[in-house]
Amino acid sequence: MKASQPPRRTRVLTMTGIGKHFGAVKALTDVDFWVNEGEVVALVGDNGAGKSTLVKVLAGVHPPDAGSIEFDGEVVEIGSPADAQDLGIATVFQDLALCDNLDVVANLWLGREMLDGRFLDEVEMEQRTWTLLRELSARLPSVRTPVSTLSGGQRQTVAIARSLIGDPRVVILDEPTAALGVAQSAEVLNLIETLRERGHGVILISHNMADVLAVADRVVVLRLGRNNGVYNVVDVTSETLIAAITGAMDHSHLPQTRPPVTKTPDNVIDLPAKGARRPRRKGDA
Ligand SMILES: Nc1ncnc2c1ncn2[C@@H]1O[C@H](COP(=O)(O)OP(=O)(O)OP(=O)(O)O)[C@@H](O)[C@H]1O
Ligand SMILES: [Mg+2]
Repeated sequence: MKASQPPRRTRVLTMTGIGKHFGAVKALTDVDFWVNEGEVVALVGDNGAGKSTLVKVLAGVHPPDAGSIEFDGEVVEIGSPADAQDLGIATVFQDLALCDNLDVVANLWLGREMLDGRFLDEVEMEQRTWTLLRELSARLPSVRTPVSTLSGGQRQTVAIARSLIGDPRVVILDEPTAALGVAQSAEVLNLIETLRERGHGVILISHNMADVLAVADRVVVLRLGRNNGVYNVVDVTSETLIAAITGAMDHSHLPQTRPPVTKTPDNVIDLPAKGARRPRRKGDA
C-alpha cells in the first residue's frame, strides 16, 4: 500500500432506516448510521434530536419500530442489553452508573467477578485492572480507593475501562466530557484516541464541537429525529456543523448517502488518512 493511501477499515455496524416512536412522538425516522473498526463517529444534534434514542436502540434498551441493524455483515436483533453485550456493544451512559462506595477494581469487575475456587480472586482482578489502565495510559492514584474520591475525569476513565471488560467491538460514549474541565476533557479525548488505536469502533455523543473536531473521524448530524448530514472531519468546520444542527442547513429532504450494503463480513470502505486529521488541541498530552 502506498504511503498516501488512506487506511481501509472494516465495517462493524450498519443501521438502516431506523424508526422509533414513543406514543405520538416520533423520536427517529428513517435514520441511517454506521461505524467501522478503529473509527470515532461523533453523533451530534440539538436537544431532543434523537441521539440518545439511537444509541439506546444499539444498547438494547429500545427495540426499533422500523429498519434493520447489521453487525459484521449479519442482520441482528438487539432485543435486550444482554443481546448488545453478547454482540460486543458496550455503552457508557452519561450518569456512568458507578458504585461510589466500591473501589476501582470492584467497579470494573462488578457482575463479572473472577473467582479462585469459592473466593474472589482479588489479586488477579487487581493485576488485570492495572494492565488495562496501563494500556489506556490512564492515570489513577490507586485502584483500591472508593470511586467517590476520584475526580470527574478519573470517574469517566473508570467507566470507560469498565466498558472494555469483555473486549467490545463498539463502545458508545454519551457526553463523556459534558461535566469536565479543560484538562480532564483533554484526558478523556486522549482516552478516546486510545480506543480508536486499539481498533474499537467508537460512537461519541457530544454537544461540544471543539471536542468533536479534535477527536472524531466522521460526524453524523441528527435533527428532529432524522439524518441531517454526514461529514468527514477533515472536510467540515464548526460553523457548517452548527448550521446542520440548528437547521440553517436543511439536508433532511435530500436522500441521505446510504452506506454500501454489507453482504460480507470483510466489507471495507476508505476513510481519510489519519495524518490528514485536524491538529490536536493545546493541552493534549
Ligand atoms: N422514554 C421516552 N418516552 C417518551 N419520549 C421519549 C423517550 N425517550 C425519548 N423521548 C423523546 O424522543 C425525542 C428524542 O429524545 P432523545 O433523548 O433521543 O434526544 P437527544 O438527542 O438525546 O437529546 P439531548 O441532547 O437533550 O440528550 C424527544 O422528543 C424525547 O422527548
Ligand atoms: Mg440525550
